[in-house]
Amino acid sequence: MLDESKFDVNFKLLALRIPRELCKTATRLLNGYLLDKPRVKPITEDPTSEKTRYMILSEKVQNPDLSDIPSQKLDELKKLCEIEVVPYSLTLGYSYWTADHILKQILPLGVEVPSSFETIGHVAHLNIHDELLCFKDVIAKVIYDKNYPRIKTVVNKVGTITNEFRVPKFEILAGESDMATEVKQYGATFKLDYSLVYWNSRLEHEHIRLVSQFRPGETICDMFAGIGPFAILAAQKGCLVYANDLNPDSIHYLKINAKINKVDDCVVAYNMDARKFISHLMAKPICAIDLESDNSMVKARDTCSTKAIDDAKAEGTEFGVREKAVAGNDVKSEAEDVQNSTRTIDGSVVAESGNAHSGTKKKGNAHKRMKGSILQAKPWEHVDHVIMNLPASALQFLDAFRAIISRKNWRGPLPLVHCYCFIRANETQEFIISEAESALNAKIKDPVFHKVRDVAPNKAMFCLSFRLPEACFIEDVANSTCHNTGGL
Ligand SMILES: C[S@@+](CC[C@H](N)C(=O)[O-])C[C@H]1O[C@@H](n2cnc3c(N)ncnc32)[C@H](O)[C@@H]1O
Repeated sequence: MLDESKFDVNFKLLALRIPRELCKTATRLLNGYLLDKPRVKPITEDPTSEKTRYMILSEKVQNPDLSDIPSQKLDELKKLCEIEVVPYSLTLGYSYWTADHILKQILPLGVEVPSSFETIGHVAHLNIHDELLCFKDVIAKVIYDKNYPRIKTVVNKVGTITNEFRVPKFEILAGESDMATEVKQYGATFKLDYSLVYWNSRLEHEHIRLVSQFRPGETICDMFAGIGPFAILAAQKGCLVYANDLNPDSIHYLKINAKINKVDDCVVAYNMDARKFISHLMAKPICAIDLESDNSMVKARDTCSTKAIDDAKAEGTEFGVREKAVAGNDVKSEAEDVQNSTRTIDGSVVAESGNAHSGTKKKGNAHKRMKGSILQAKPWEHVDHVIMNLPASALQFLDAFRAIISRKNWRGPLPLVHCYCFIRANETQEFIISEAESALNAKIKDPVFHKVRDVAPNKAMFCLSFRLPEACFIEDVANSTCHNTGGL
């Protein structure tokens, strides 16, 4: 239990009783000699009369004869009115002091006070060092009290992250246990349950930095998408995004986020291992149920390309690496024909029609305007960017690109890969490139490293960007895979 009265500090001060209408002039005259404490007003009501108010003097004025105030100021004040000096007792308590001030008094001298924290919606994520764990409850209470109602839950990470979903285990230290919350980044809203999915508010700048390199109409493949911080921003920009994550809860929220940000037409979600996702995406379907009759894909490319072209026009950008006419092909009726065609093709991917029907209808007019310039999104023919944000092991996943892209099917340059990694103080960029090259079994040309942030004193997160080497092409792909590209 925290005894809040222990933080009461009493100040014995002086105040001047001044006629209410002269307080403004007196304030100017007493500049530098009035009480100066954050969030405490130096002028207050006089409990004995409505006609006068108290002007509280600063701690440096201790003598009732006001000899601490320069005589010139005093003379001017005396000309203004008759001055009455009264003692004034001010008590500042627990509710007044900042978390930092209170924690400094509670915690051992010299320790780093954990008064800052990561904010995820209504959740405050503390990072309490081992030596302060015995104070964790009191630290959390102070953080909670001082930040409520903005903060309603205070948590601390327990142990290190071992699960592949990269979700820490949390201990709730104060407030409610519900960690389903909402955050905003660059105009997009993200719903998430912080106890179930990966989220790192510190990556906000990186999300926008990378997406700023994408152009409207481009096709993006996000192998480790989480709840969609890259995917949603890219879709908002007018890109078509194939977004995958192994964590079903991440995909649950990714789909919600695509919807609430009104880009569900441009985001195709998958819930599978990243290697399988890539091989799935890059294999050209040969069976009857392929892209052309895929409901969610029709929905995606219809509205996405419309937005992309609108955006491109607005930006004055040339639209379209792969703008292609759909001659005599009414996609709207095609979409209607295949609506509700939920199906499982390869046992991992389930395409669901969702609101494709209404979505297609809603966009019908826009689509008609777009007829003849519909983006034919076929990931086995072209992807512009691949995002791989799983820094602990993304490099090892580069082997997913070995012998998977058919030169015969592919159009245009190979994708730019943005592969996140950690580099320790004893490692070099050359070492990272050699790791990437051996995973790809190909030489990388013109790699670019961007430092994202320091994650520990001897460890930093980087983004390694490079164009997938031509050596990754397979000359002849056996099109044996029959699959559904529609995502979830
Ligand atoms: C570091 S988080 C990045 C999430 C998101 N891109 C972001 O920037 O916030 C990595 C994500 O990869 C997912 N993941 C881990 N292993 C995976 C795998 N083998 N295949 C697909 N996703 C995986 C995790 O569930 C997690 O959401």
